[in-house]
Amino acid sequence: MPARLEIEGGVSLRGSVRASAAKNAALPALAAALLSAKPVRLTNVPDLVDVRTMIRLVETLGAAVRREGEEVVTRVERVASDVAPYELVSTMRASVLVLGPLVARHGSARVALPGGCAIGVRPIDQHLKGLARLGAEIAIESGYVVARASRLKGARIATDLVTVTGTENLMMAAALAEGTTVIENAAREPEVVDVANLLVEMGARIDGAGTARITIEGVPELDGATHRIIPDRIEAGTLIVAGAITRGEVTVTDLVPDHLTALLAKLDECGVLLEVGHDSVRVRGPERPRSADVTTSPFPGFPTDMQAQVMTLLGLADGQARVTETIFENRFMHVAELARMGARIDTDGAIAIIRGVPRYQGAPVMASDLRASAALVLAGLVAQGRTTVSRVYHLDRGYERLEEKLVALGARIERRP
Ligand code: EPZ
Repeated sequence: MPARLEIEGGVSLRGSVRASAAKNAALPALAAALLSAKPVRLTNVPDLVDVRTMIRLVETLGAAVRREGEEVVTRVERVASDVAPYELVSTMRASVLVLGPLVARHGSARVALPGGCAIGVRPIDQHLKGLARLGAEIAIESGYVVARASRLKGARIATDLVTVTGTENLMMAAALAEGTTVIENAAREPEVVDVANLLVEMGARIDGAGTARITIEGVPELDGATHRIIPDRIEAGTLIVAGAITRGEVTVTDLVPDHLTALLAKLDECGVLLEVGHDSVRVRGPERPRSADVTTSPFPGFPTDMQAQVMTLLGLADGQARVTETIFENRFMHVAELARMGARIDTDGAIAIIRGVPRYQGAPVMASDLRASAALVLAGLVAQGRTTVSRVYHLDRGYERLEEKLVALGARIERRP
C-alpha cells in the first residue's frame, strides 16, 4: 500500500513556519542550464520528487549535477543526448521544459509527448507553434515530439492562450535565437520572471518579463550564473490556509507578499485576519469563515493551484460560494473526497457550488493530484476524528515534508509507509 498520512483533526495550529522554494521556478531553472556550457549554481532549491526527476532528466541529456543541501550546480559542457524519454516525461509533464533549451543549444530534441494528467489533457500545442515560429521543424513520431533547427531565428509569437511553461520554453529557446523575439500574451507568473532573471544573469537579453509582452534579443551563447530560487507562493498559500482553517495563529515567513495578493484579498473577504509583513504573513483564522466566490485566472488573478485549498475553507463557511475553474478542465478531483468528509459541493463543468457546513468528519480519502492532496490534508486538520489521506506520493511531488511543517505547528499527523 503506498504511503499515507493519518491526521487527528481539531488542533488549532500555532507558531511560525518557513516557506520552501518554488517547485515551479526550480524546474525551469534546471532546464535553463542546458543553454550554457558553464555551471549554473542554484541555491534555495527545494528537495522534491519533481526536482529529483528533473535532475535525472538533465543528467540523461549530458548534465553533470552536484547537489549539496539546498544548492544544486548543473553543468552541461556538451549535450550527450537529445532524447527526453517517455518513462521520465510521463511522470512529470514539466519535462517538456527541456524542449526549447535542447533545440536552441543542440539543434534537435526528441521529447516524449507528456500525455494528460489527473487535472486535464494539458496539450503542448502552444509550445510547438511557438518553436515553429522560431524556425524549428516539428514532427510527431511514435508519441515523441521531434524538433530540429540549425539556428533558431527570432520572431513575433502570439500564443492563443496564457501558458506558463509555454512562455518559459519559448523564452529559453529565443535566448539563443538569431535576432529579436517578441512573445505576446505571455504568462506573467512570478516563476516566469524568476526564469527570466536567471537567463539575464546567464547573459541573455530579456525585457518585459512579468508583463504580457516579453522581448528577447538572441545572443550567440550564454554563460554560467548563480541564482537563488524564489519562495513557493503556493506552498506559502497552503500554509496560510492551514492557519486559517484550523482557527489558529500562524506566521509564514520567507515569502513574497506581492506573489499572493489575489489569495490574500480572497481570504480577507472570507474574514481571515491577516497581517502582511515585508516577507511574511501572520494569519489568524476566524471562528467560521464567510463565503466568497472564487474564479481562477492567470497571474495576477487567483491562482488555480490554490483553488482546491480555498474550496476546502469555503466548505466550512457560513453561506454558499461559487468556484469557477477557468484554467484546467478537470480540477475538481478533490470535491468527491471532500464530500466524503461531509462537504456539500455540487459541480457542473467548470463551476462548483459550495454550501458551507459547520464541520467535516474525518474519513479515509484518496489524493488524486498535487493540490487536491493538499486540500485533503487541510480538511483532515480541521475535521472531527481521524482522516487517512492515501496516495500521498502526489503530495510529495510539490511539498517538501509538508506534514513535518504542520506537526511543528501542533498538528497531529503521522506518515504511514
Ligand atoms: C504550470 O503548468 C504549472 N506547472 C502548474 O502547476 C499550474 O497549475 C499552471 O502552470 C497554471 O498556473 C509548472 O509550472 C511546472 P499552462 P502548465 O501551460 O505550464 C492549456 C502545480 O500544481 N494549454 O499555463 O502546464 C492547458 O491545458 C502545477 O504545481 C494548452 O492548451 O500550465 C491549461 O488548460 C499543476 N496548450 C492552460 O492552457 C499549451 O500548449 C494553462 O496551462 C499549453 C497549455
